[in-house]
Amino acid sequence: MAIASFRTPPALTDRGEDVKKLTGNTRKKPLVIKIGGAILNQASALNALLAVISRLKDQAVVLVHGGGCVVDDRLEQAGFTTEKKNGLRVTPKAQIPVISGALAGNVNKSIVAQAAGLNIPAVGLSLCDGDMVACRLAAPELGAVGKPLPRSSKLLDTLLLGRFLPVIASIGALDNGELVNVNADDAAVVICQLLNAELLLLTDVNGVKDAQNQYLKTLNSCQAGQLIEQGVIAGGMTAKVNAALKAANQLRRSIAVASWQSPEQIIHLLNGDGAGTRIQPDS
Ligand SMILES: Nc1ncnc2c1ncn2[C@@H]1O[C@H](COP(=O)(O)OP(=O)(O)OP(=O)(O)O)[C@@H](O)[C@H]1O
Ligand SMILES: [Mg+2]
Repeated sequence: MAIASFRTPPALTDRGEDVKKLTGNTRKKPLVIKIGGAILNQASALNALLAVISRLKDQAVVLVHGGGCVVDDRLEQAGFTTEKKNGLRVTPKAQIPVISGALAGNVNKSIVAQAAGLNIPAVGLSLCDGDMVACRLAAPELGAVGKPLPRSSKLLDTLLLGRFLPVIASIGALDNGELVNVNADDAAVVICQLLNAELLLLTDVNGVKDAQNQYLKTLNSCQAGQLIEQGVIAGGMTAKVNAALKAANQLRRSIAVASWQSPEQIIHLLNGDGAGTRIQPDS
């Protein structure tokens, strides 16, 4: 079952084999960790997570971040109101300078600087750097929100070979050069596809809760559909669960949604145990 795949990853892709040959090492497949929520306002929690990442010596890590709470504050300060549909931020074009400035600027550079303080050589990027990810408009009613599509892993391969920690903000670009806001869970999934990587979605809560307010150990697409319809899964968790289901089906393994609050559990999650909800692929 999917949990076992965390212990025994499927065969590397051809590109993965190339990376392995180039480095001559036996490192595991890369790990994409998505962080969001209040961790971006809590330096000590971010520091603890980065310290755990720095100890993952035999596994390349890519950090993808959101920053919804920071964006909410900045938009309010700038006099904008915020509307969300199914957990996705409706993004009028006029808000893009504030949103991209907050995510690809302040939040991204703060993470890189904090990593540098722990001697982690981090590199701050957005989805459009190095032609990594293409974006189309997600839906007309959402405004400047991008649906990300994988394009080139060359930049990330190069950075990972050099043992850098890529830190990616969820800002992308359309082919006409306009910036778009991308849900950070979707951004993490596309980076994961690009690298055929493992994926952890770390958030403010310990996983997905059911109607009794209990954390679910596992969640499949059928249960998820019902819980979303009942409004039990709502807001940002809707977007997260949908992104995790997509990744689970594409990668044919379960995807963990867990909390960043006890970062030491990352090791357990990678070993197939630990807290959190595992979103399962369709059988
Ligand atoms: N059934 C549910 N179980 C758990 N959390 C839920 C559920 N339904 C809604 N939520 C909310 O979803 C939130 C997580 O999504 P949110 O988008 O706020 O965070 P994030 O994706 O980690 O951060 P960011 O959007 O900044 O990347 C939780 O903090 C919780 O308030
Ligand atoms: Mg979110």
